[in-house]
Amino acid sequence: MTLDHSLAANALSSGYGSRTIVDGVDLELPPGKISVIVGANACGKSTLLKTMSRLVRPSSGAVVLDGSAIDKIPTKKLATTLGLLPQQPIAPEGIAVADLVGRGRHPHQKMFRAWTAEDDEAVAEALTATGVADLADRSVDELSGGQRQRVWIAMALAQNTDVLLLDEPTTFLDLAHQVEVLDLLTDLNLSRGTTIAMVLHDINLAARYADHLFAMRSGKLVASGAPAEVVTPALIDQVFGLDAEVFLDPVSHTPLVIPRGRHHADSRPTHIGAPA
Ligand SMILES: Nc1ncnc2c1ncn2[C@@H]1O[C@H](COP(=O)(O)OP(=O)(O)OP(=O)(O)O)[C@@H](O)[C@H]1O
Ligand SMILES: [Mg+2]
Repeated sequence: MTLDHSLAANALSSGYGSRTIVDGVDLELPPGKISVIVGANACGKSTLLKTMSRLVRPSSGAVVLDGSAIDKIPTKKLATTLGLLPQQPIAPEGIAVADLVGRGRHPHQKMFRAWTAEDDEAVAEALTATGVADLADRSVDELSGGQRQRVWIAMALAQNTDVLLLDEPTTFLDLAHQVEVLDLLTDLNLSRGTTIAMVLHDINLAARYADHLFAMRSGKLVASGAPAEVVTPALIDQVFGLDAEVFLDPVSHTPLVIPRGRHHADSRPTHIGAPA
């Protein structure tokens, strides 16, 4: 199934005050695919996602959804098509988990029409999918960082948009929960055809889960393509200033970046558990 929405940035620049952060970015999210945006801290990834979801205005260029500039699309229509999970979302004080996830349903509610069985179902499904159903009545304030992150992901899922942007959805999660969330987003992509774009800092998980990788440096796009094509030692040096080697991930056969660091280069066997 492909829903075929197209979300693109055309010669897009944006920033804060007179400071340009996103600097002339041209990109189109492959419809029905998973894209991952990588880049060093402060290079402009969050600003790009915020501009692509209309939270920050372009200073030049445009963000175009299905052929229309997003500033021309009615708010409700935009919110039922395009969802954003920001990097540091803020929950209203004291709100219960189920109520926060329920807020993801707001764009779907007709004027003067209250909550429907379909809303209930979407919330229950999202709570179950993210493994937080047993927290439904708890206050969001009293959750651990990882529990809270999964509740936010549940809210984004409940919104049930065809295009979903997520800014570091795996922060605060232990490795098992990171893999679980990325598997869940992949399920969503495969079953509903949701176009997903997310920022990830773990380059190896990014290379594994992305159909398409976008790499940014200082507000500009410096690489775009399949992970196997773009993840090279030269790119890792260009984007992160990191000396690293790139192997094949033995599980997924995608690029696996191993940083050299200054203290651990060693010529002994490279597999833990390998015969000496
Ligand atoms: N609301 C804001 N007002 C002013 N400057 C901001 C604001 N948000 C971000 N910036 C600045 O814009 C630059 C890019 O920030 P952005 O959050 O887009 O980076 P990022 O690539 O997402 O970084 P990280 O990996 O740390 O999340 C930084 O220098 C930051 O200080
Ligand atoms: Mg960020």
